[in-house]
Amino acid sequence: QTVYLEDYTPFGFIVEAVDLTFRLHPTATRVLSRIRFLPNPEASDRTFFLHGEDLRLIRAAIDGREITPELSEAGLRADVPDAPFTFEAEVEISPATNTALEGLYMSSGMYCTQCEAEGFRKITYYPDRPDVMAPFEVRIEGDQPVMLSNGNPGARGADFAEWTDPWPKPAYLFALVAGDLVAHRDSFTTASGRKVDLAIWVRPGDEGKCAFGMEALKKSMRWDEEVYGREYDLDVFNIVAVDDFNMGAMENKGLNIFNSSCVLASPETSTDGNFERIEAIIAHEYFHNWTGNRITCRDWFQLCLKEGLTVHRDSEFTSDMRSAPVKRISDVIDLRARQFPEDQGPLSHPVRPESFQEINNFYTATVYEKGAEVIGMLKRLVDDDAYHRALDLYFERHDGDAATIEDWLKVFEDTTGRDLSQFKRWYSQSGTPRLHVREEYEGDTFTLHFRQETPPTPGQPDKGPQVLPIAVGLLNPNGDEVTPTQILEMTQAEQSFTFEGLRVRPIPSILRGFSAPVMLDHAEGKDRRAFLLAHDSDAFNRWEAGRELARESLVQTVLTGAASDAAYLDGLKAVIRDESLDPAYRALMLGQPTQSELAGLLYERGETPDPEAIHDAAEGLRDAKAAAFAGLLPGLYEDNQVPGPYSPDAQSAGRRALANAALSLLSRRDHGAQAQAQYDRAGNMTEQLSALSALIDAGKGDLALGRFYDQWQGDRLVIDKWFALQVMLAAPEETAAVAERLTQHPDFDMTNPNRFRAVFGALAGNHAGFHYRDGAAYRLLAEWLMKLDPLNPQTTARMCTAFQTWKRYDADRQDMIRAQLERIAALDGLSGDTSEMIGRILAA
Ligand code: ARG
Ligand code: ZN
Repeated sequence: QTVYLEDYTPFGFIVEAVDLTFRLHPTATRVLSRIRFLPNPEASDRTFFLHGEDLRLIRAAIDGREITPELSEAGLRADVPDAPFTFEAEVEISPATNTALEGLYMSSGMYCTQCEAEGFRKITYYPDRPDVMAPFEVRIEGDQPVMLSNGNPGARGADFAEWTDPWPKPAYLFALVAGDLVAHRDSFTTASGRKVDLAIWVRPGDEGKCAFGMEALKKSMRWDEEVYGREYDLDVFNIVAVDDFNMGAMENKGLNIFNSSCVLASPETSTDGNFERIEAIIAHEYFHNWTGNRITCRDWFQLCLKEGLTVHRDSEFTSDMRSAPVKRISDVIDLRARQFPEDQGPLSHPVRPESFQEINNFYTATVYEKGAEVIGMLKRLVDDDAYHRALDLYFERHDGDAATIEDWLKVFEDTTGRDLSQFKRWYSQSGTPRLHVREEYEGDTFTLHFRQETPPTPGQPDKGPQVLPIAVGLLNPNGDEVTPTQILEMTQAEQSFTFEGLRVRPIPSILRGFSAPVMLDHAEGKDRRAFLLAHDSDAFNRWEAGRELARESLVQTVLTGAASDAAYLDGLKAVIRDESLDPAYRALMLGQPTQSELAGLLYERGETPDPEAIHDAAEGLRDAKAAAFAGLLPGLYEDNQVPGPYSPDAQSAGRRALANAALSLLSRRDHGAQAQAQYDRAGNMTEQLSALSALIDAGKGDLALGRFYDQWQGDRLVIDKWFALQVMLAAPEETAAVAERLTQHPDFDMTNPNRFRAVFGALAGNHAGFHYRDGAAYRLLAEWLMKLDPLNPQTTARMCTAFQTWKRYDADRQDMIRAQLERIAALDGLSGDTSEMIGRILAA
């Protein structure tokens, strides 16, 4: 059952209004619906088919007369009048046994929903497609102390609550929450003076972990007014924290539902990284109110319309709230870690896919993060001013619409007069473009010769050239900038750009700020990179120069067995001791490419990556850093201690990041002494967890791990960290055994996605451990995916991506992985979600 973009047709009916009544019961909730339909003049097909899955139909009626519709696994069909009519249905569902966490389900005794993308059809019969938008009235009957739905609150009695959402919305934005919850309240007055009641709803006991999220929400609301001119549009805005959730969070209109890991924060239990991520996700979901809800998607192929744009907006927000260069570098690290492997393997797909079997499998790094990069490029090409004019037009023209990428590009064409037909390839062509550069200097003219190519990807053997905004600046040999950053707009397969009047040969800094999501191949020597590491005025490229030196050094070590890291270590030393630089930036500088990134790089160069050799090289480089910086690290550590009460602000977090990066290197030489001291005095989770990591890394973690568990066994989110850390930091030959042992722990609960991911996400993320030559990790993961699939197909399918890079490795490893993939594929009753993923991965 593959669906194709080109097959889109509008639904035969318009939904004028939806009225829902829920009679809550754990295993027998009744859902009564009254839906007003009108024939859609824009549609030719008047087949009346409503989606519905796992529903027990009690009764159905049209205009008050009982009907006996035709039922199938997928929904309901009925004969209807050729005029406006009211459809009614009563169905029964069982939230307590809904382990897929899609539709209405229960989590820790609380009723909650997740409808995106196609979960509403597990609640009642409905045209469950995003282009059908309607206002909803909801009545919840039950004895739960708190009963919430979308929109504004209406009547409330001892055993019922009513909600009205005046804004037409697709069913995927529907939400209902009911349970024993407590609120952390605040309010926000919008630019035009409307007072909005804000609340974050949590289980009793978690009230103390809401303040940070609330501040983030208010900042997001203000920022969207100031930067995009977007105001909030209801009397209330509710956020709920839920322990069992397949994803991070969901932007349901007026009632955002969050994985508790993405909203609950306290200094004792959350790291600086958690705080930053929570702030970004709160912003992301809030920003969806305009980019996603007020303007939604015509169909699920257009998912990047709301996700790419909203990720772009939340990145801008984080850059404004914190450090822009640090945010940019972190985003690129993430893109390379998650999107590049996807785009270079069997799961590669365009930012706007053209077909799918299960849409849940397309909530990917490509749709989200590459989708956001595409918008960043568009903004770079047209400039900030034109970008905001185009966005104003987008909101004005499409408010209330279910729109497409064509609509989106059109507002840019109309405001700027640009022809974006070639740019549109970014939405249709999959794969990561490779950009090669050659330099030439003659007379006083400097020329950059570029060549771009995108290798074939599944279903796309041939690619056309893409529009690449290449940000370039030129430096003098003394380090001064002679030509400030300009955007070279490359549109052809090969294209040259000249710079004149240069009396000395300049040193180019290319792809500043990572101005396009490509792999840059620039044959620069070590000296050149060291020069840029020392002098580049572009913070991103300065970091990138260090990264390139680290990559090259690691690749050489893997290929030749000999370390060649002097240029890298010398250059790096100067940067990390430079106190004029932001500590957070210096902490990023101290990091190095992941082992998985190196494996990808080696594969790209025609080598077969050996995970153990890569592991040894990476460890060797860290040892070399620890030795080369031995004199520097204690000072770096001491100078960046943050005294006083904990604050998660960017400055303090940056200093802690640098101190803890120093600690992790220090403990390679002092056998964990400093880390033990930090562990013993730690007053916040950032310090506690980095001390624990350093101790484990130094082989001294056992005692602290036991103490950590005893201290935190009542806190699920902290115990997730405890599970994950042990697998992440396990030695390659022990990783599978450690993970397996943890699955026997009484606190392991496969039905909780956070806990499952803590163990198995960490297993897949421990590169040398996952790919250890005995294949034990492959077997263990496959075995657990097979156990999880019948309960929770979505999370199972997502975790299959652990195998997406399998073709990089040697024949033995490929054989072992293939055997596991085939074992999963052969599972009786395998879900459509997982079967699509395994099929695509095996087809490589
Ligand atoms: N729209 C949500 C967000 O971007 C993600 C929902 C994902 N749901 C899913 N079933 N894949 O925040
Ligand atoms: Zn989103």
